[in-house]
Amino acid sequence: MNTTTLHLLTASLLLLLSCATHVFSVTPCPPCGNTTVPFPLSTSPTCGDPLYKIQCTASGSLLFNTVNNSYPIQSINPKTQRIIIQPASIIPKTCTTTDKIHQGIILNNTLPFNITSSNTIVYLNCTRTLLLSPLNCSAASACHAYINATDSISACQTGPVCCTYRTGGSSNSYQIRVRDSGCSAYSSFVNLDTSLSVNRWSRPGLEIQWLSPRETVCVSQKDCDSTTSSCGVDDSPVNGIKRCFCNGKLVWDPIQGVCTKSEL
Ligand SMILES: *[C@@H]1O[C@H](CO)[C@@H](O)[C@H](O)[C@H]1NC(C)=O
Ligand SMILES: *[C@@H]1O[C@H](CO)[C@@H](O)[C@H](O)[C@H]1NC(C)=O
Ligand SMILES: *[C@@H]1O[C@H](CO)[C@@H](O)[C@H](O)[C@H]1NC(C)=O
Ligand SMILES: *[C@@H]1O[C@H](CO)[C@@H](O)[C@H](O)[C@H]1NC(C)=O
Ligand SMILES: *[C@@H]1O[C@H](CO)[C@@H](O)[C@H](O)[C@H]1NC(C)=O
Ligand SMILES: *[C@@H]1O[C@H](CO)[C@@H](O)[C@H](O)[C@H]1NC(C)=O
Ligand SMILES: *[C@@H]1O[C@H](CO)[C@@H](O)[C@H](O)[C@H]1NC(C)=O
Repeated sequence: MNTTTLHLLTASLLLLLSCATHVFSVTPCPPCGNTTVPFPLSTSPTCGDPLYKIQCTASGSLLFNTVNNSYPIQSINPKTQRIIIQPASIIPKTCTTTDKIHQGIILNNTLPFNITSSNTIVYLNCTRTLLLSPLNCSAASACHAYINATDSISACQTGPVCCTYRTGGSSNSYQIRVRDSGCSAYSSFVNLDTSLSVNRWSRPGLEIQWLSPRETVCVSQKDCDSTTSSCGVDDSPVNGIKRCFCNGKLVWDPIQGVCTKSEL
């Protein structure tokens, strides 16, 4: 082995080590403006778990990034691991949402976030092909009452078809598509009871959940909190990576990112 190879090896090992300690830090992030940022959500590479990246703007508000766009975060519930984002608005005097150029809300499906089954999506100005979809595009669909009762979207009254559907089930849980061959606008409501009159609907929101983070990755025992955990080989996936597994009767708490006493 020559010196160059050795240097390269050392460099990549150092990079690996610094990634391991950096990337999987369990330090919670500082508040963004007045909003607490719970673990594992991450507003910078040095806090939280960077797989769970969200954005904190200079003015102190939080944004959720999708593939080519971002949406304001309205609220975060660390207990249920859910975030409510504000859907795109409708361009005035049109029936088109501002995110139509990005094809609507497209989550990166390799990241640990998906759309929960608590959302009711109202699709507006759809083509007739949607009548063949599993969406409810009947004359009784709640989208008609919504268009009727909402002055700011009166341009949607001329759309040939509108539809309503509850997320989850067989539908894709990573996107709310907006496009010429489908619908040109949408809105979303969390835990909506469609039998309520529209003036009693809550403001628009789309609920997203994050999947529980696994135990912290380690290279050696010094990367773990030795009083509660031990660095050991993770035998579930293929690559044989090591994680700080909790000692004895302690259990991994994915919400705090620490080993705690079981509540049972
Ligand atoms: C934070 O809270 C204070 C007091 O309630 C308020 O004056 C301020 O505008 C808030 N800042 C942000 C960024 O929301
Ligand atoms: C999705 O996220 C992964 C991991 O961060 C990244 O490598 C990839 O480029 C992202 N894909 C898109 C389409 O943004
Ligand atoms: C309705 O959708 C079509 C097809 O996407 C679009 O061209 C049209 O501008 C939309 N109508 C309004 C009022 O936005
Ligand atoms: C995101 O932007 C890239 C580059 O402009 C583009 O190729 C891709 O189709 C866009 N993806 C979506 C879902 O809009
Ligand atoms: C989101 O992903 C989790 C884990 O894969 C899964 O249990 C849950 O059903 C998904 N949610 C939806 C609405 O598909
Ligand atoms: C569509 O929604 C309306 C109003 O909620 C309901 O009465 C009707 O049965 C639904 N139709 C289908 C096909 O699900
Ligand atoms: C729309 O509004 C008109 C007038 O206010 C009313 O007669 C009609 O029943 C409404 N349609 C729906 C679907 O709510």
